[in-house]
Amino acid sequence: MAIGVFDSGVGGLTVHRAMVDRLPTADLIYLADQANAPYGGRPGEQIVDLTRAGCERLFDQGCDLVILACNTASAIALRRLQQTWLPGYRKTKGRALNILGIIVPTIEAATGLPWEHEAERRGDKVEHLDVLGVFSTPGTAASRVYEIEIDKRRQDVAVFSEPCPNLARMIEEGAPEADLKAAVDGHVTALSKRIGRMPDRAILGCTHYEIIAGLFRAALPPGTPLIHQPGATADAIGRYLERHPEYDPGASGLRRFLTTGKPGPQNGHVTTFWGGPLSFDGV
Ligand code: DGL
Repeated sequence: MAIGVFDSGVGGLTVHRAMVDRLPTADLIYLADQANAPYGGRPGEQIVDLTRAGCERLFDQGCDLVILACNTASAIALRRLQQTWLPGYRKTKGRALNILGIIVPTIEAATGLPWEHEAERRGDKVEHLDVLGVFSTPGTAASRVYEIEIDKRRQDVAVFSEPCPNLARMIEEGAPEADLKAAVDGHVTALSKRIGRMPDRAILGCTHYEIIAGLFRAALPPGTPLIHQPGATADAIGRYLERHPEYDPGASGLRRFLTTGKPGPQNGHVTTFWGGPLSFDGV
């Protein structure tokens, strides 16, 4: 079988890249739902429907495991699909199938704790020492998933989310570097004004943003650690595959790149990130 990697667009390539580093022989099929990107400002029900359709396409392509390389889909659709759709779908297909997201590994990396760990609440006043900024789509920010899940585990970490409404679209459309820089600078300034200071660490909580991580690094104080979501996700998938031998990741190093949008080469930001041209086939 192959592992499916799904995103609304090119952002999930950042996770795909880390997966190739971690699992070089695995067969990977990437699907970008560019006909419907961006997802970040869409109503939740649409995000659930589009994510289900993307997973179905990848399962039909022979994938047994699909990675939602998208924070918005992971935050809004994953639990719903796992609870209400996947059990019945598995039965109709008669094989082991699963969908994994990228938020759990990111929270594990940000807290330094396994997902199962939930801190005992003692009711004491806790000094928030560590201020964590999360840059994300409006959908992910509205879900408050990072605030809720990190707060359950680490009362010494204060999470502040900054929704960046147009940023994924700009990256997807290949906006000029100067426009991207102005947008990133604006979001970093807005977040720091809200907090009253710059964050100590940050999560680029939309996979598209990793493509322009350099602009975030330049806008934040020098040396601000960025939690590396793609690396944390790839490591978690590696561990999942070790625990679940029923999912065979394949061994021929297959790389297929599919889009529901316009087939062909991707924009210059993607080429720079990828280190060369990358062309998608239509589905
Ligand atoms: N790359 C996605 C994410 O991580 C989605 C961006 C979008 O489509 O708005 O949230």
